[in-house]
Order: sequence, then structure tokens, then C-alpha cells
Amino acid sequence: MNKPSVKQWQEPAPDTDFDAFVTVVESRRSVRKFEPEPIPDEIVERCLDLALLAPTSSNLQSWEFYRVVDPDKKQRLAEACLSQPAATTAAELIVAVARTDTWREHSRKMVEVFDQSEWEWPKTMRAYYEMMTRIAYGLGPARLGGAVKAVVEPVVSLFRAAPTLPKDECDLKIWAVKTTALACENLMLAFRAAGYDSCPMEGFDERRIRKLLKLPKDAVVVMVVGAGKRAPGGVYGPRIRFERDRFIHTV
Ligand SMILES: Cc1cc2nc3c(=O)[nH]c(=O)nc-3n(C[C@H](O)[C@H](O)[C@H](O)COP(=O)(O)O)c2cc1C
Repeated sequence: MNKPSVKQWQEPAPDTDFDAFVTVVESRRSVRKFEPEPIPDEIVERCLDLALLAPTSSNLQSWEFYRVVDPDKKQRLAEACLSQPAATTAAELIVAVARTDTWREHSRKMVEVFDQSEWEWPKTMRAYYEMMTRIAYGLGPARLGGAVKAVVEPVVSLFRAAPTLPKDECDLKIWAVKTTALACENLMLAFRAAGYDSCPMEGFDERRIRKLLKLPKDAVVVMVVGAGKRAPGGVYGPRIRFERDRFIHTV
């Protein structure tokens, strides 16, 4: 039986509450001191689900989140976060990890999703995940693919717009970290929307965290998010942002 084309898919934009969003964004502060009260399990899991709805490059979902609940591991993680109060007082500690090598498996999974879908997906989509992601994110044997991209890309760019693709491990890390950081923001806004608070932390000993969580070689610890109920004095001062026109350019 023929499947309907996914081009017929309709998803009208639902009404949203802009004021509620403004309240969430404006009231999110980095909180360094939390009350001992726990966050209900279902809220933490729901916030993590919402983190996974962040946009992700090529939909390759190059992220992982480790919710550390084991008391001994949690204590060691807080120590690895340099014993910052945002970590030692947090009801929840979540380690956001970017993965630079899961794109292969995830490309295969995308093809499986197309195969199992009740919709007919365009052949170009399948080709993208069967072939193009290898060109885009693969570095090739002895990094030769990356070297070829480094030569070909600027030449093509002289004649037509050419995508700037990862050419070495560092580029791949940037690629995976971008996506993971977006999910972290979703996570922190979700906690705020649920009445809780958070603090992103990059003040940590990555070696210790890698060891504690037995992270694979291609993992990059992006940040540790501490979360909980805001304690009095948990925000260290009024928010500081520089003048808007330093950052926002209309050209
Ligand atoms: C990637 C990243 C790493 C951060 N690391 C830490 C940290 O280790 N410890 C900490 O107390 N705050 C940390 N922060 C929080 C910033 O200090 C905070 O976002 C900034 O001062 C602005 O304050 P606000 O978040 O309340 O607007 C980090 C923020 C980001 C985005």
C-alpha cells in the first residue's frame, strides 16, 4: 500500500502566551544557593524531555544528559564542580555532554525512522542520511576527508555558496556543543517555567567528570546544570547586561 507523502503533513502553529514566556525568560537567573527541598521526579524528567525538543543540527541529536542521582556520585560530581555552592546545594545535578561520533548511528536511525514511518519521506532525505552526513561530519581515514574539505570548500565558495563543514575534531566539537548548549537552555527555562531554578556551570574538572560517568572518548562535557528551589540570597546580585546596541546589529 502506498504511503501518503510527508509533504502533505500539516502542523498549524498553536496559540501561545508571549507574556508567560517573557516571565520565564526574565525570571531565569543563575542561582547559586538552593533550598534542600527536592524537585519532584516527574518534573525533572519532564524538563529533560523538553530539553530534547531543542533544535539539533541535521536532527542528529548529538547530545546526552546524565542525571546524577546516586548520592556518592552526586557528591563526587559536586566536588568535580570545584565544590561551588551551585553544585553542593543543588537538588539535581545534570551533566550535559556533546557527542562527536554518534552522528553515524543516528544517521542510520533516521533511515530506520523513514522506513518505519507511516509517511513517505522524500528520497533526498534518505540520501542525506545515507551519504551526505558522511561527507558533512566524517573526517575520513587519517583525517584525509577533512583535509579535502579544507581545500575544496573555499574553491567552491568562489562560485557558489558552500556549506562550512567540520574539518577536524575541533570543528566537530563545536558542531556538537552548539546543539547541546541549545538543549541546556531549554532545560533551564523548563525548570524556571515549573517554578524551579538552575545554574549552568563550566567551572569543573572535566577529567574527573569523564571518569565518574565513564564517558566515551568522543564525549565533551558541555556544562553541568544544577537545579532546585531558589534559596534566599541564591541570586548574587541584579542582572548585568551591557547596552543592547553592542550586541544587536541590524544591517
Ligand atoms: C557556559 C556557562 C558556564 C557557566 N559557568 C558557571 C559556573 O561555573 N559557576 C557559576 O556560578 N555560574 C556559571 N555560569 C553562570 C553565569 O555566570 C551567568 O549566566 C551570568 O553571570 C549571567 O547571570 P544570569 O544567568 O543570572 O543572567 C555559567 C554560564 C554559562 C552560560
